[in-house]
Amino acid sequence: MTDHELLSGAREAAELAYVPYSNFRVGAVVVADDGRVFTGANIENASHPVSSCAEATAINTAAAAGVRKIDTVAVACIDARDVEGAYPCGRCRQIMSEFDVENVIVTAGEGSEVREHTLDELLPHRFKL
Ligand code: THU
Repeated sequence: MTDHELLSGAREAAELAYVPYSNFRVGAVVVADDGRVFTGANIENASHPVSSCAEATAINTAAAAGVRKIDTVAVACIDARDVEGAYPCGRCRQIMSEFDVENVIVTAGEGSEVREHTLDELLPHRFKL
């Protein structure tokens, strides 16, 4: 899949976000090392810390399907003002680390700038057992 296709998928996934508290929709697409593709959106909860970020939803769905190595995560924050407001949070970076994500593609809404990073750039010197 091209970056463009992955980000279209992430934007489509974001449309399914459950965000009654923030109204900030995020979608993620995960590409596993075996080529399988998983999607996720952010799912909020009245008890706010119980909420799941889009990246966590997609990665945990992949992990539950047996995935142990992820090549790429594409993230679309379709309500972000620009790409700078669309980066994965620290917790999601640590979740990415667990499954050895290599590439992270980030964008905001339609027409936004697209940025591509290695996870090493986003979370250097990370904690791993
Ligand atoms: N959010 C994500 O889904 N991914 C991130 O990396 C950052 C934040 C969600 C959490 C919450 O539902 C909303 O965005 C506002 O913080």
